[in-house]
Amino acid sequence: MDRIRILGGQPLMGRIAISGAKNAALPLMTAALASDEPLVLENLPRLTDVRTLARLLSELGVETALEELPRAGDGSGGDRLTLNAANITSTTASYELVSKMRASFWVLGPLVARFGEAKVSLPGGCAIGARPVDLYIKGLEKMGCEIELDEGYVIARAPKGGLQGAVIRSPLVSVGATHTLMMAAALANGVTTLENAAREPEVADLAECLNAMGAKIEGAGTSSIRIEGVKKLHGTTHKVLPDRIETGSYAMAAAMTGGEVTLTGTRPDTIEAALTVMRAAGVEALVKGDEITVRRNGSRLQAVDVVTQVYPGFPTDLQAQFMTLMTCAEGEAEITETIFENRFMHVQELARFGANISLHGDKAIVHGVEKLKGAPVMASDLRASAALVIAGLAAEGETIINRVYHLDRGFERIEDKLGRCGARIERLK
Ligand code: EPU
Repeated sequence: MDRIRILGGQPLMGRIAISGAKNAALPLMTAALASDEPLVLENLPRLTDVRTLARLLSELGVETALEELPRAGDGSGGDRLTLNAANITSTTASYELVSKMRASFWVLGPLVARFGEAKVSLPGGCAIGARPVDLYIKGLEKMGCEIELDEGYVIARAPKGGLQGAVIRSPLVSVGATHTLMMAAALANGVTTLENAAREPEVADLAECLNAMGAKIEGAGTSSIRIEGVKKLHGTTHKVLPDRIETGSYAMAAAMTGGEVTLTGTRPDTIEAALTVMRAAGVEALVKGDEITVRRNGSRLQAVDVVTQVYPGFPTDLQAQFMTLMTCAEGEAEITETIFENRFMHVQELARFGANISLHGDKAIVHGVEKLKGAPVMASDLRASAALVIAGLAAEGETIINRVYHLDRGFERIEDKLGRCGARIERLK
């Protein structure tokens, strides 16, 4: 298993090109199932999650052609993936693949809408919490689906004549349920409204792609989405949205090491909540077009409290990274996690660097220390791994991060991107 070795203490200086967003790429890939014409995705990040989902789609009979395009000198660019779901051979998504990655469950929506039935394994729990799928099931039932749970699988059957439009009011905001129900509704009879829908930019990106395929979706990016079903969707070419979580993670790395980094090819408007909190902590963040320059000169960061919220609030996917930033801030920061009940696995690992953090239910209290010291640590999930990298970059001495496969799920060439900015980081095979 690969490990990452970091010699910390070097301020990051330079430019980092932001890749396409994992959390946009995955739902976009599942959207290919909704049409019998090819969907071409550009600016695709090179990540294991993308490969895992491509494998699942090809098990269903989707022809997948991945072009691994060279990156430009500054590291910008992405891959191109053509997905052709003209000849689907199966509507069953196996436990083996769905359990690897929760987003695989989202094939349920387009499969049942286009083929009238689907059998998809329940994703199971994961390191950050229980993560049930009740909202997906209730939403599909509202559209007339019959749902059966059998040996760990969800079996969904559409009524004769296809899914029916419905008003679906979700008791809580779910990104995945919004993606799934929006794809299902795109091919349903009549109008569906999703109330209390997720407003995440990745939902808007998926809607933009579906509309380019002929769907009639309005309001994506707000909490009320109106979808007028159409008979058929056609092919299109779509460029994946830049990754706001990658952007925020590198912004925090720059701030933590006291350097100056310009993040290029990003969408600053999608990361405003995090920039606001970072500025309150004393980080300079200058936005110009599709670039953000992040800088911290000399002075110590100030502790700032944060509560994770659905978009446009502070993202749970940056909670661990921000906690790292607060480990060396002046004062005491209270970090409240409201989205996932178990997303504090990084706390024990940050303690290995000498961080002083106490846990109280859904709150972590971070008492800032003068400095961190490098340590061997273990990555527990994707975003927690990024938090450990950030800690390692700022810590004195050597850090070894084990279980790097978590990082490869969601950060394209992290050691290259950081290495270009002067970080002393290498992958040990
Ligand atoms: N929830 C339910 N019932 C459901 C669905 C969700 O109770 O039927 C709960 C979840 O357990 C959680 C909350 O609702 O407590 C929000 O979950 P959501 O469904 O919004 O999350 P998701 O769609 O499974 C996506 C991202 C996550 C990100 C969350 C929240 C992808 C592939 N995943 O997950 O990203 O944290 O939204 O923004 O888009 C990551 O990239 O590391 C990651 C975990």
